[in-house]
Amino acid sequence: MNTKILFAATSEIETELLAVFAVDASANKAVKPEIRLLAGDGVPAQAARAILDGGEFKAECCETLLLHQPTGLKAKRLLIVGLGKVAKLTPHEVRKGAGTAVRFAKPRGLREVAIAVPVAEGLGPKLTMRAVAEGAVLGDYDSDTYRSERKDRSVQSVQIVAPVSADRVAAEAGLREGVIVGESQNFARELINEPGNRLTPTILGERAAEMCREYGLRCEVSGADKLRELKMGAFLSVTQGSDEPPALIVMTYEPKNAPAGPVLGLVGKGITFDTGGISIKPSDNMEKMKYDMAGGAAMIGAMRAIAQLQPQVKVIGIVCAAENMPSGKAQKPGDVQIAMPAPGKPGKTIEIINTDAEGRLVLADGITYAKSLGATHLIDAATLTGAVAVALGQINAGAFSNDEDTYGRFVEGLKVSGERFWRLPIEDDYREVIKSTIADIKNTGGRYGGAINAAMFLKEFAEETPWIHLDIAAVAWNDDAKPWLASGPTGVAVRSVVEWIRSYAG
Ligand code: BES
Ligand code: MN
Ligand code: ZN
Repeated sequence: MNTKILFAATSEIETELLAVFAVDASANKAVKPEIRLLAGDGVPAQAARAILDGGEFKAECCETLLLHQPTGLKAKRLLIVGLGKVAKLTPHEVRKGAGTAVRFAKPRGLREVAIAVPVAEGLGPKLTMRAVAEGAVLGDYDSDTYRSERKDRSVQSVQIVAPVSADRVAAEAGLREGVIVGESQNFARELINEPGNRLTPTILGERAAEMCREYGLRCEVSGADKLRELKMGAFLSVTQGSDEPPALIVMTYEPKNAPAGPVLGLVGKGITFDTGGISIKPSDNMEKMKYDMAGGAAMIGAMRAIAQLQPQVKVIGIVCAAENMPSGKAQKPGDVQIAMPAPGKPGKTIEIINTDAEGRLVLADGITYAKSLGATHLIDAATLTGAVAVALGQINAGAFSNDEDTYGRFVEGLKVSGERFWRLPIEDDYREVIKSTIADIKNTGGRYGGAINAAMFLKEFAEETPWIHLDIAAVAWNDDAKPWLASGPTGVAVRSVVEWIRSYAG
């Protein structure tokens, strides 16, 4: 998708479809909505006056109204997109609204649209422009890689129309960021959508390496030999049942003249298919387990964005990629594995209770490895537990942290990313349930608090290093399409991880 800004009056824009946002400016308790259009000039409002006065359009978030041959405009169609109550308006609604405009155009064969940047109190020029661009790019995604008849329906060009008086520097900067981050999130979504046969750990490694070459990141992808050399017994135990070799992907971003300071370690779960192993999953919905590498893909997407945004902080991105399969070589419940040793310490021993709790095993070694490479602050992302869906539904993802400052930065970033994470506790009392009688710890903690138990397991490996864990299992895949978002992979966590990284760049 090609995006550009035009500083012009909306009436001058020649386009198949001009999208203009609308809000409800009525007081909270009012019975009748008071529709206000947020274009930089009044022409679209005049064109739509009669129909808006008619009351059929309420400007609820992502509600749409289409007018053909609008008077006074050069656009062939005027699409009004609701953003909800004006009092609650933020760039997040704008992101959704821009996505809605693009997704409206797509199935109708409109390859080119214009979107008027909303002008309203509380909408800063840079973040608003970024939200429009990001929303448009994200809205253009469909999981149609393998659908021959749908492939070329993309909206090819988006003209973003800003008032002539707009802050041009802020607008251009916002556009650039929105495109970079949106495209990187879509890059992650493409990877997540790939089925297990077409995206093995080896292929995921190749795709990551290719991305790194393109954007000038250092990248090293190694296989089982390296895992053995590093004594990654937890990671190896997951991959041993599969004929597909594992991939340990390490991507490094190091700014020129990097100031001495924090080194950020990103660790992603890259299970390219999770059958559960010997503790095999039921066959219903098992096909969804191709997205068990969504955390890893999010980290690859975040690195892709960081390579272009160039913050002044060193970042190491690690993806632990493997396939979890049952076989004569697979690990069994009851087996004891020895995790990667931290410098000067023996590796922790793990009693395997359930081979389907494999994500925490690969992440354990990924976290230890990130620390050994010098990471001072860690963040991991993983489709780790079904239990996080029980706890939080499919709206918020789970977040966990052992450090207030580190987590505080993440929360600040959510204001920009618009993603939703809810913090869950990892107090020491919870550790009781992962105690083992025959090893240091076991890999599951019983029926209750499953997402917390998994986080407690990871905490054993983060130890004193400030760390955030994101359990994205319930929100990494969108079952039902929304007006602004296709069904399928969401690419969640890319935006929030990017903002978290930028918070360290000074
Ligand atoms: N990949 C799954 C978690 C998952 C479930 C992701 C549903 C996306 C949707 C993970 O490896 C897993 O199987 N977790 C188990 C843990 C249990 C054995 C303690 C689970 O959640 O059931
Ligand atoms: Mn599993
Ligand atoms: Zn899994």
